[in-house]
Amino acid sequence: MAKPQIILLGAPGSGKGTQAAKIVELGYYHVSTGDLLRAEIKKASNLGKKIQDLIGNGQLVDDQTVLDLLQANINLAKGEYIFDGFPRTEVQATMLDKQIVKKAKAVAIYLDVSLDELVSRIVNRRTCGGCNEIYNLINKPPKKEGVCDLCGKGLVHRKDDNKETVQNRMDVFKEQIDPILAYYETKGMLKKVDASINPDTTFKQIRKIVES
Ligand code: AP5
Ligand code: MG
Repeated sequence: MAKPQIILLGAPGSGKGTQAAKIVELGYYHVSTGDLLRAEIKKASNLGKKIQDLIGNGQLVDDQTVLDLLQANINLAKGEYIFDGFPRTEVQATMLDKQIVKKAKAVAIYLDVSLDELVSRIVNRRTCGGCNEIYNLINKPPKKEGVCDLCGKGLVHRKDDNKETVQNRMDVFKEQIDPILAYYETKGMLKKVDASINPDTTFKQIRKIVES
């Protein structure tokens, strides 16, 4: 039976990247619009500079720019994807539906967790600059400080992971999420999982949905 495309929804810090890394083991490709945008910033192009300002303020990049970037980095003919960080607006949900997923089987999985828990998760996050593995100084520290357990490269503290920017990111999330959830609910595609528990237990819930 064909696997569904996975549209992974959740607040900043809810665990989208952490869960995506586990879902990949089920044979999925992972695409994160946040990662794609950060790669664009690294290129220091004019577009990259514009993106840097928006991300640095916790604001969204415009819908068409993100869609173009996403389309340039996926190929649904190859297999099933986890869409992490897209859609962020109802307009993006429609774009994803009409221009990318089209008639393919898909499920929207919402990582449900109280926003109060997330600031601490985010300010304590460190990410590998080489392989993107995600750590947490409190509950998933690397074996050697500042070094990735998997590839040995240095760990990075994301520039938008400071308290002020996180607050803006949360505000943007709160403004946008209800219409997105309503969009998928209406289409009968929405599943919610508990993302307040440990990541392996959340993953078991996701696996059940994907394999059912
Ligand atoms: P993006 O990179 O997507 O950031 P985000 O949505 O804010 O989400 P995060 O990556 O911060 O969190 P996550 O859910 O992946 O959590 P993680 O697994 O790392 O986007 C960044 C910016 O790019 C946006 O603000 C926007 O400006 C722009 N952008 C991106 N997409 C866009 C779009 N479509 N349109 C417009 N603009 C866009 O986990 C977080 C931490 O918690 C880690 O330390 C982890 O170890 C820990 N953790 C994970 N799960 C658990 C758990 N169950 N219990 C305890 N700790 C946990
Ligand atoms: Mg992420």
